[in-house]
Amino acid sequence: MQFPQVRPRRLRKNAAIRNLVASTDLSSSLIYPLFVREKLSEPRQIKSMPGIYQNSYVSAVEEVKEALGLGISAFMIFGIPDENNKDELGRHAYSSSAPTQVALSKLRDNFGDEVVLFSDLCIDDFTTHGHCGAVDDKKRVDNDKTLEIYRQIALSQAKAGADFICPSGMMDGQVGAIREVLDENGFAETGILSYGAKYSSSLYGPFREAVNTSLLKSESRDTYQQDYRRSYKEALLEIRLDIAEGADMVMVKPASFYLDIISHVKKEIVQPVAAYQVSGEYAMIKFGASLGCLNQERLIAESLYSIRRAGADIIITYFAKEFLRNI
Ligand code: PBG
Repeated sequence: MQFPQVRPRRLRKNAAIRNLVASTDLSSSLIYPLFVREKLSEPRQIKSMPGIYQNSYVSAVEEVKEALGLGISAFMIFGIPDENNKDELGRHAYSSSAPTQVALSKLRDNFGDEVVLFSDLCIDDFTTHGHCGAVDDKKRVDNDKTLEIYRQIALSQAKAGADFICPSGMMDGQVGAIREVLDENGFAETGILSYGAKYSSSLYGPFREAVNTSLLKSESRDTYQQDYRRSYKEALLEIRLDIAEGADMVMVKPASFYLDIISHVKKEIVQPVAAYQVSGEYAMIKFGASLGCLNQERLIAESLYSIRRAGADIIITYFAKEFLRNI
């Protein structure tokens, strides 16, 4: 049999050769999300996300210590308030005693510039209705009223030590509003990672348990998050607006069902592109593997590399620790 001269298998001969040509090293590009809940004494495992915990302030510091040992230095903080601290407007989200702010300052005190701290900016966990913005009596989200709340949260998180503020509520104009308030108050060096292209996805289900959302199961975020039936061009519109308003990095979310979007965004945009492998992607792999028909370790790596291949410079993933532990 006559073989062609080109034999792609030569580059797959052994692990050393495969590593040499892989050209996609993930280890320094992962962000690990951390849930920090106020008034919690012991970490509490999230049922729909085996291996992921709601942390107390003390256990959050422990988690970060462990992650640093594995080579992770970037963290995305999600604060979970006590039920008594929720109201219609999510006011607690901009208090200096809000769980996100307390966690930010504790982590900064403990680890200094060894850690890069990203803080989720939204009010969905802080409102009694569970929406990402202020609502009227028909539960319609008021975009511009919400921006005023976001500005206060941004300032409060910047004061607490966030390196990058990450608005995830999909309000129009949110990046511009936040950039303005940061600049006006001497936080020109605090950056913004915008959740630029964020789809209204069923893959956020486990997260909503993780943060004790008050959003009713019958409700959705369809009036503010993107419709996945539309073309990638809408994602580009959203992301270009965010960049024009001052975003330093942009995000596509979720990741796995949206690899085409990541790839289009990466081609068009100069700024670093992050992709968020969300709670449902984590849960599908975990629960699928627990049935015994999938190799969990290899599947985790495959999922992360597919996101990288699509063009993500940075990946936010609940698998960060597990992936690096198994490398
Ligand atoms: C909302 C927010 C969500 C996630 C991050 N920020 C959920 C939502 O939009 O309902 C989801 C993250 C995940 O599923 O892992 N502020």
